[in-house]
Amino acid sequence: MNAEPLKVAVLGCGVVGTEVVRRLSEKRDLLADRIGAPIELAGVAVRDLRRSRGLAIDPQLWTDDPLALVKRDDVDIVVELLSGTEPAHSLITTAMEHGASVVSANKALLATHGPALHETAALHDVDLTYEASVAAAIPLLRPLRDSLGGDRITRVVGVVNGTTNYILDRMTQTGGAFGAALREAVERGYAEADPTADVAGTDAAFKAVILASLAFHTWMPPEHVYREGITGVTATDVADARACDRVVKLVAVLERIPSRHGREGILARVHPAMVPRTHPLADVRGADNGVIVETPDTGPLLFRGAGAGGAPTSSAVVGDLVTAARRRVLGHQETTAPATAPERTQGIGDLRTRYHLRIGVNDSLSGLDGVTSVLRFHDVGVDSARRSRTAGRDALVVITDAVREPDLRTAVDVLAGLPSVDTPPRFMRLLDPADAR
Ligand code: HSE
Repeated sequence: MNAEPLKVAVLGCGVVGTEVVRRLSEKRDLLADRIGAPIELAGVAVRDLRRSRGLAIDPQLWTDDPLALVKRDDVDIVVELLSGTEPAHSLITTAMEHGASVVSANKALLATHGPALHETAALHDVDLTYEASVAAAIPLLRPLRDSLGGDRITRVVGVVNGTTNYILDRMTQTGGAFGAALREAVERGYAEADPTADVAGTDAAFKAVILASLAFHTWMPPEHVYREGITGVTATDVADARACDRVVKLVAVLERIPSRHGREGILARVHPAMVPRTHPLADVRGADNGVIVETPDTGPLLFRGAGAGGAPTSSAVVGDLVTAARRRVLGHQETTAPATAPERTQGIGDLRTRYHLRIGVNDSLSGLDGVTSVLRFHDVGVDSARRSRTAGRDALVVITDAVREPDLRTAVDVLAGLPSVDTPPRFMRLLDPADAR
């Protein structure tokens, strides 16, 4: 092989960066064969030069000046593994302006600045890819963009955050406490630098924006994604789910639905939901992710596998790196931007679905009639209702028919004021196939 080496700069060397740098050296020959040219590390930018990362690389390659690194004209590809939008945004913009292709795993960055970054990539004739930003090792973004490029996707539903899936799985299997499960997820390298982004649903909401850009060809601002995290999920919710043969999962759902006024648009939502045990997503365990993509011609397609952690995420990063490097060797750049057109986005008030309700009552015998008549008065049909007694407290547990979210919320507010109701009602959405709603 006589080809000139391709120079790669890495920004950030945490859990994923360490694995990427290790892989570049351990798989040196394999990568050179696949690419048609050897890969040479140009530098690794880190915040703290004193921290040992156990990597046997030339000490001269470490730098704490990422700007100088991305400005070097001999760098072919920049791998960006920072968290948050700045300085990542300015750094990769500068890198592309200096002619480097960019591989990123940064979902906050892509969700917030995706369109502008793609414009910069097109302007400077470089690649911008980010397969690792959603569902880590699972090849998902490229199939959405390329393999399903001729299909009309109607719905994407998935478990796209490994940390919360790990926590909820532990709570389901062992009844374990939230805090201990979160600590384990952090120790295993699944969580974000600030795990609040995981448990508050922000990380999943960023991933929903990226998925929407490819599935529905529209970039929606992250604040248009309806978001609830898992910090409020209790052991009682988990037990309630079990009682109706379901499990609690943090789900991301993106779908084309009609608004209350009949206009079609895209509703993107991230929240805990009770998923039937027979649903493919119920089997997505630990820190795994699973995403179901639906189109009329293909039916549901399931993508499932490792969704977080150093090694799985580095697999997707290095895969993108190989693609970008091959294109350099072949001397052509492919447009990697998703085609986009503005789409209307819907609010959670446009959702129609089924709900699980737990209503604490001081007298479960006389309470049931009052509760069901309030629900029916507010157009909330009752599919099933049962009495429950947990730790000496009475409650009514209701599963509703498919109803509009505003009707459900109004009914819940009215129920909270009934004399027989002594604890504000809790509700959780059910995840059902689209045609069951
Ligand atoms: N913190 C993320 C998660 C990492 O738990 O899914 C992978 O994107």
